[in-house]
Amino acid sequence: MIKPKTKILIIDDDPKVSWILSEGLSSRFEFVSAHDGIEGLQMVSTEKPDLILLDIKMPGMTGLEVLEKLNKLENRPEVIMVSGHGDTNYVVESIKLGAAEFVTKPFDVQEIEIHINGVLERSKLKKEVDQLKSELEVKNNWANFIGDSQAMQKVKEVIEQVADSELTVLIRGESGTGKEIVARSLHQLSSRRSKPFLKVNCAAIPRDLLEAELFGYEKGAFTGAHKTKQGRFELAHKGTIFLDEIGDMPLELQSKLLQVLEQQEFIRVGGVQTIHVDVRIICATNRNLEQAIKEQGFRDDLFYRLNEITIFLPPLRNRPEDVPLLVTHFLQKYNDLYGKSLTELSQPVMDKLQSFHWPGNVRQLENMIKQIVVRGEESIINDLIDSSAVNVLPSDSSYPVRQTVTEQVNPSSENNDDDEHTYSLKVRIGKKVAEEEKKLIAEVLNKTNWNRRKAADMLQISYRSLLYKIKDYQLNTIK
Ligand SMILES: Nc1ncnc2c1ncn2[C@@H]1O[C@H](COP(=O)(O)OP(=O)(O)OP(=O)(O)O)[C@@H](O)[C@H]1O
Ligand SMILES: [Mg+2]
Repeated sequence: MIKPKTKILIIDDDPKVSWILSEGLSSRFEFVSAHDGIEGLQMVSTEKPDLILLDIKMPGMTGLEVLEKLNKLENRPEVIMVSGHGDTNYVVESIKLGAAEFVTKPFDVQEIEIHINGVLERSKLKKEVDQLKSELEVKNNWANFIGDSQAMQKVKEVIEQVADSELTVLIRGESGTGKEIVARSLHQLSSRRSKPFLKVNCAAIPRDLLEAELFGYEKGAFTGAHKTKQGRFELAHKGTIFLDEIGDMPLELQSKLLQVLEQQEFIRVGGVQTIHVDVRIICATNRNLEQAIKEQGFRDDLFYRLNEITIFLPPLRNRPEDVPLLVTHFLQKYNDLYGKSLTELSQPVMDKLQSFHWPGNVRQLENMIKQIVVRGEESIINDLIDSSAVNVLPSDSSYPVRQTVTEQVNPSSENNDDDEHTYSLKVRIGKKVAEEEKKLIAEVLNKTNWNRRKAADMLQISYRSLLYKIKDYQLNTIK
């Protein structure tokens, strides 16, 4: 097959330039020419040249203005600026704007051929480096996403298949199974990877602020809106937005989200102007959305739109063969982080880990390994597992329903030595209540396999308040 010739677009109002180059170099390159900036910009999209020779002084748009416009294009061709003697003060400006070379007129054909070859060679090298870099990013991504079980292999396969598509992906799975890692992988393996990845946790942002957070607001839209602010959708333009805990999005916002999904447009809070965005949407939830639809807490049309592809992450207890791989990965991670050298665990400990039921999934395993590394002894695993297991009540036990009364109690007072010696009724009782509350929340979370929505219902507190308490009492993270 004959290789197509490299195509060069000459943008110059002086027709001699094009004539001289075609005469001297047409055996190696194909030349097309435009006589001013506007025509040149049009020809960039119609002719798709590999390289542009751009004159600086032209009637209408100057070469520098054309270059600024070219810079707005994705993957624009390399540009060599050409200018008459005396225009050399434009050199710095051109280089700042990203021109690859600067050549002064009059030039001879051999001289310009050397410049063209140099720029093309550098551009080829850059493309090869970019390609290698992106292959490395893919490898790195998988290096931190562990799992060789059949179920996880399938998950990885689907991620690779859909990452570079525009399909909306819904990621489902229990807490701690890796939903966020999957969302980040989908972005990382897509051609949007160099653009923003923004995460919004729909359960953690108060309902009345969520709309402003997602879609932005105009100055004066509400009390305190002193200036116009862009929302996450605008900030994520060309990139990916990850809507975590989508099941907690209020109904009135669900319809606005549907509009973004269908038309890629929305209006800021308090605004009138329609804003267009190009954003890929990925969602995650551990809620039963089908049930939420039945209870009219979730729109079915949104569900079907979000759910073009669903990725289910299996709980860790269903893939014990992944446990040793995860253990090795986390040992290495925390050895590196804390400068330790605990490289493996004994077989009895590993057996114990493989047969555990992991209510907090990979996050819980990671936290345990972190503690083992920090404390440098694997035997603590027995206590960690036992204390976690003890909290699981027999399935027939009924839960005392009570209103929590500790909103005012500062949980951190638990660690305050002075509290031991005080006779303040408020402090002493407050501390006891906080201890009881922590214990009860842990029990209910274990009972519900860390289904936080179910747990909040059983505890008769709001979901958000449960999230705060889990954080405050450090129930699933070890700082
Ligand atoms: N397959 C995996 N390989 C390596 N690390 C993992 C994997 N799955 C989860 N993790 C780690 O476990 C922790 C929890 O993962 P992640 O935050 O993605 O879970 P999640 O499903 O989003 O949980 P939640 O529903 O509670 O938000 C993270 O620190 C993550 O790095
Ligand atoms: Mg998450």
